[in-house]
Amino acid sequence: MKVTILGAGAIAGAHAEALGALAAHGGPDGVELTHVVDVDADRAAAFAAEHGVPQHGTDLQALLDAGAVDVVHVCTPPSVHLEAATAALRAGAHVVVEKPAVLSLAEADTLAAVEREAADAGLPGRFTQIVQHRFGAGIRRLRRFLDDGTLGPAYVAQCDTLWFRTPEYFEVPWRGRFDTEGGGTTMGHGIHQFDLLLAVLGPWTEVQAMAGRLARHTDTEDVSTALVRFANGTLATITNSAISPRQTSRLRFDTAAATVELEHLYGYDDSSWTVTPVVGREDVAEAWAVDAGRSVDGGESGHLAQLVPTYQALVAGRTPPVTVADTRATLELAAAIYRSAFTGATVRAGDIVAGDPFHASMAGTGTPWAPVKAVPA
Ligand SMILES: NC(=O)c1ccc[n+]([C@@H]2O[C@H](COP(=O)([O-])OP(=O)(O)OC[C@H]3O[C@@H](n4cnc5c(N)ncnc54)[C@H](O)[C@@H]3O)[C@@H](O)[C@H]2O)c1
Repeated sequence: MKVTILGAGAIAGAHAEALGALAAHGGPDGVELTHVVDVDADRAAAFAAEHGVPQHGTDLQALLDAGAVDVVHVCTPPSVHLEAATAALRAGAHVVVEKPAVLSLAEADTLAAVEREAADAGLPGRFTQIVQHRFGAGIRRLRRFLDDGTLGPAYVAQCDTLWFRTPEYFEVPWRGRFDTEGGGTTMGHGIHQFDLLLAVLGPWTEVQAMAGRLARHTDTEDVSTALVRFANGTLATITNSAISPRQTSRLRFDTAAATVELEHLYGYDDSSWTVTPVVGREDVAEAWAVDAGRSVDGGESGHLAQLVPTYQALVAGRTPPVTVADTRATLELAAAIYRSAFTGATVRAGDIVAGDPFHASMAGTGTPWAPVKAVPA
């Protein structure tokens, strides 16, 4: 399979490294990173030199037209994702898109339609999105232990993305804007962690949220908080912040049998998990430890952990593990957080349909805060 990386910026290196390591970690043979494309020709050239990519350029469409691409990895700013994914799928290529896959629920619906039309036309391309933390062993173990009853029901969950981004971070033109990044710290940072929350707890039913732009000169929020009720009854809190000096990414689940906690920053392995059983259920902690003892690669999450099963599926003609529907479900929670924060009202699952301002854009009816100038430097 001939792979092209589109967008030779910060995250593209993680893709190149993971692609290079695929075969040694159980992925299929014959996956080759052949091209890197960027609007900035110098960046593409420098990336090609650094990662040993045979060809570089500035024109993805020309490569697609020439049939030179089987898979496109889209590592551009989010506002380019839909256009690039559409071009790839219509040319019959698979597309692996960085998070957030698209900017809004409307774009997610367009993407789903493009993928369906391509399939109906007999084209082989499939869409998938990078959500690399779904692929660490611990999150899969947690789901299994909830599904098979080992942990009993989950009652309470906390989901915290407490990150720190300097003012300089937001000087990159596409960051901190609804039209280019899709939103602020909720869409840009917290989405990793609340995607995991959804992967573990399933569908949500109700959201109440607040958001503020407290410290950074952006168009978007730099903090948001939410209360979420899940269909299975679990009550959860979510905090997304770009202004928290001691950084951490944290998930906590209080179940009938144990408290299960994950603490990491940008990636985790089995050592990032703590299981505290209730008295009399020490078997749960033992079962967790036994299962962790069987982990491959220490149970690490990351691009490699996701791309191994993704390429196994693509090579076999199967649907990769993360679909447009998965992507949309996580975006729907983000849209609900924005709508509740900006309108002050509770949002229920399914409320945000075509025609709703928060379907078209996470900014919806408009941010409730004053212009950027009003924020102290
Ligand atoms: N999965 C993760 O953990 C993770 C981490 C960081 C970033 N990301 C995501 O990856 C994406 C890229 O982020 P980044 O930090 O690497 O951005 P970046 O700004 O460092 O790099 C983006 C690159 O895309 C290029 N580009 C812009 N428009 C283009 C176009 N139309 N065609 C081709 N190239 C174009 C730019 O020149 C630049 O080289 C974003 O969606 C971001 O949210 C994911």
